[in-house]
Amino acid sequence: MSWGLISEMGYVGLQTTNLADSVFDATQILGLRETDRDANAVYLSAGEAHHELVYVESDVNGVDGFGLVASDGDALRQIRSRVQDEGFRIVNSKPRLDGIEDGFAFVGPEGFLFEIYIGMQKAGRVERTFGPDRYGHINFHPRDVTGMMKFLHRVLDFRLSDTIGDDYAYFMRCNPDHHGIALIRGEGTLHHHAWQTQSIADLSKLGDRLNAVGRELIWGPVRHGAGHNIAAYFVETTGAVVELYTDLEQIYDDSRSPVVWSEGDNWWNMWSSYRPTEFRKYGITPVVR
Ligand SMILES: [Fe+2]
Repeated sequence: MSWGLISEMGYVGLQTTNLADSVFDATQILGLRETDRDANAVYLSAGEAHHELVYVESDVNGVDGFGLVASDGDALRQIRSRVQDEGFRIVNSKPRLDGIEDGFAFVGPEGFLFEIYIGMQKAGRVERTFGPDRYGHINFHPRDVTGMMKFLHRVLDFRLSDTIGDDYAYFMRCNPDHHGIALIRGEGTLHHHAWQTQSIADLSKLGDRLNAVGRELIWGPVRHGAGHNIAAYFVETTGAVVELYTDLEQIYDDSRSPVVWSEGDNWWNMWSSYRPTEFRKYGITPVVR
């Protein structure tokens, strides 16, 4: 297996109108640790990285940006030159936050900001909690889903794992995880950010924690067809959905052809044909820059 220019999904940055409730969701429901805090932002992590989730206090709920880790300094330079050649607007020519060795940020298709970087510092203090092992993927709903798929492949070197329908959905990977970024045609929103855990038992504990505070899972546990992960979902304070999952397909064969599903196949749940109509209505848009 060869590695592309992006080696890891780095972090999700969200703007929130209620920082305290967002931090509650992340620490007490999902189970991340707060690693750092400054005047208007809280940094959270499941593992050793300084941050895998950042909440920025704001007067709007929205997507601040997505961090992606370049595989090395050469890859970072190569992506930067592709971004410039394509005419995307670079909004930060240095890392946006302390503790990152090198990086830059640009506004990609449909207003989503991507920060590409290397060398994030480790969190100072690593306590284990009930939470997930790590950040895994995002699922967003571009208006031009095929255009976004082509951008991710052409500029950021993501590979195609599965497709659904004609111009409907694409699952794309940057490492052995079946998808780091999933795309479903929609209204230009981030639908969910997803976190990997070891066992399906952890999904039931998530349901119990939600129940204890009068909230609920909005879907799952289900067994997805595309990606094969077992997943459960809740809505966080910002209006974005959070997924906790386990048992995601791992792809080590570069020559694996994309799996092709029709929209009518039960790609969303191998265990049941029930399909919640409300589920896809959640999500938040990128903040305007
Ligand atoms: Fe997902």
